[in-house]
Amino acid sequence: MSAETRRTRPALLLAVAVLLAAAGCRQNMHNQHKVKTLAASDFFPDGQGARPIPAHTVARGDLREGWAYSGLDTANKPVAQLPFPLTREVLLRGEQRFNIYCSPCHDRQGTGHGMIVQRGYKQPTSYHVERLRNAPVGYFYNVITEGFGVMPSYAPQVPVADRWAIAAYIRVLQYRQTAKLADLSVLPPERRRAIQAELDQAAATPGPAPSHTP
Ligand code: HEC
Repeated sequence: MSAETRRTRPALLLAVAVLLAAAGCRQNMHNQHKVKTLAASDFFPDGQGARPIPAHTVARGDLREGWAYSGLDTANKPVAQLPFPLTREVLLRGEQRFNIYCSPCHDRQGTGHGMIVQRGYKQPTSYHVERLRNAPVGYFYNVITEGFGVMPSYAPQVPVADRWAIAAYIRVLQYRQTAKLADLSVLPPERRRAIQAELDQAAATPGPAPSHTP
């Protein structure tokens, strides 16, 4: 045995040992005691690794029952309430979602002259007819959820909370058409005076009315 071999041999052995140890680690990680999805298993009597889902199981957040999901009460009549408190944030969210998902056909005021309609799609009824002004908020929610005539359901695109927010915002659109400044006693007097001045000015100048955003 040469002097050189004597020197390198322990180093070589160490390297092999380290490699083996590392390889062992890797194998352990690969061979875990787990059942792969839908693989066979002899642990359960039926030989299947997958367990049957117990009857009536509902994925979290996926319960499609009750008025908060359908917008209808037990007599199938639209409800006149929201499943959560009405706040400014809810209405702002509703406005934003309405402008994205509904205004292409119903237009931003809800009169039914959206761009798709101008290009030939069936013209929906205006939200400002007597029948729809008197419809409960659950009616609008239900139409979004289930669709109406040629209008498809928007349930796949718009989650439940956003559908309610849109329905609440349609109420704003409707109210906006008939609201009288004198009825808005909640507004501070200086704010009312400012709006009145704006309205007077708009009436005096010909052209389109100023657009209001809440
Ligand atoms: C692709 C165009 C289109 C879009 C987008 C659309 N709608 Fe409609 N909607 C219609 C049409 C068309 C009708 C009338 C359907 C019919 O009479 O066959 C209608 C009807 C309705 C009605 C029923 C009115 C009645 O006469 O009782 C409501 C409420 C309504 N839409 C709300 C919405 C809301 C809210 C959204 C957004 C989530 C929306 N729509 C998105 C086209 C659309």
